[in-house]
Amino acid sequence: MKILVFGKDGQLGKAFHAALSDCNLGLAKQLNIQYLGRSQCDLTSEQAIANMLDQFGPELIINASAYTAVDKAETEADLAFAVNARAPELMARYAAQYGATFLHFSTDYVFDGEKYGFYLENDLRNPLGVYGKSKMAGEEAIAKAFSKVANQLPGVGSQYAILRTSWVYGDGGNFIRTILRLAKDREELKVIEDQYGVPASAQWLAQVSLNLVMYSHGALREFPSGIYHAVPAGETSWHGLASLAVQAALEAGAALKLTPKAIKPIPAIEYPLPASRPMNSRMSTDKLHQVFEGRGDMSKLRLLNKPWDEAVRVYVHNVVQDGLN
Ligand SMILES: NC(=O)c1ccc[n+]([C@@H]2O[C@H](COP(=O)([O-])OP(=O)(O)OC[C@H]3O[C@@H](n4cnc5c(N)ncnc54)[C@H](OP(=O)(O)O)[C@@H]3O)[C@@H](O)[C@H]2O)c1
Repeated sequence: MKILVFGKDGQLGKAFHAALSDCNLGLAKQLNIQYLGRSQCDLTSEQAIANMLDQFGPELIINASAYTAVDKAETEADLAFAVNARAPELMARYAAQYGATFLHFSTDYVFDGEKYGFYLENDLRNPLGVYGKSKMAGEEAIAKAFSKVANQLPGVGSQYAILRTSWVYGDGGNFIRTILRLAKDREELKVIEDQYGVPASAQWLAQVSLNLVMYSHGALREFPSGIYHAVPAGETSWHGLASLAVQAALEAGAALKLTPKAIKPIPAIEYPLPASRPMNSRMSTDKLHQVFEGRGDMSKLRLLNKPWDEAVRVYVHNVVQDGLN
């Protein structure tokens, strides 16, 4: 099977590389995978995207790329929309037209965070900033591309999944690494306590999404096209995440000046940023659960039910072992 992965140098792109190279996938050798980074394919170039798709002819397109600079997006809207909306639209059009599967990722930032409780996939989107708006435009363009071609060519076996996730951490810059870096030198830190969500490891997200679209032996499988919320079990605040990260780092032997007790909880209003963030980013994963339950796949359900804090502990331990920098 031919797989084209966009965004190979990002946190999720690297996680896909690891997951697809994993010998547990069984027939990794039978997978013909091409990984593309910015130097192979600049996603602001429609021609470059078209060329890559036409030349390689993928049966599965994984878009792990995105413009993710949430605050910078406020002044770089054109760039954010080019990468987060137009580029996935072109990928989706290709997949819809040529019967490929398209795997794409979106964000909790498509919501305004006003809902009490967990967001469902079809809840009203109302992004607070340009990044969220550009990701929402990507979601809409993908759905439109598939519905359009499906109407023209009934019977084409194209399908897509958009996995909405939150607070991603992996091999790259992220909130946890920032906190650990600051914790080396600072004796005190203020962190927002009234924004709630779920940290998702890129490694976990790559595994969950591959489980949705592929059999463990590597062949594509059918699933209902659409948006799926994909986050681990539980919930926390930025303050809760920072406290756990510092605690886990100390337990792993890191030399930090900061202790969890010295992390002061503050309301978001005391830490203004160019882009507003949702106060509530919690998303229900019932829809994804139902797909895995329907398949009777208990091991995949266990993966989906993994608590966020277990994964953060393991991650922090590995970061400390690799040396904090
Ligand atoms: N990070 C989060 O907290 C978070 C939260 C919710 C949802 N998500 C979503 O999860 C997905 C994965 O995020 P991530 O954390 O892995 O992002 P990331 O680490 O920022 O990686 C994004 C990748 O996209 C590439 N890219 C950006 N602009 C490009 C362009 N013009 N041409 C080619 N490549 C370009 C970047 O290339 P360079 O390496 O060359 O810069 C980078 O490798 C995204 O869809 C994101 O919206 C992320």
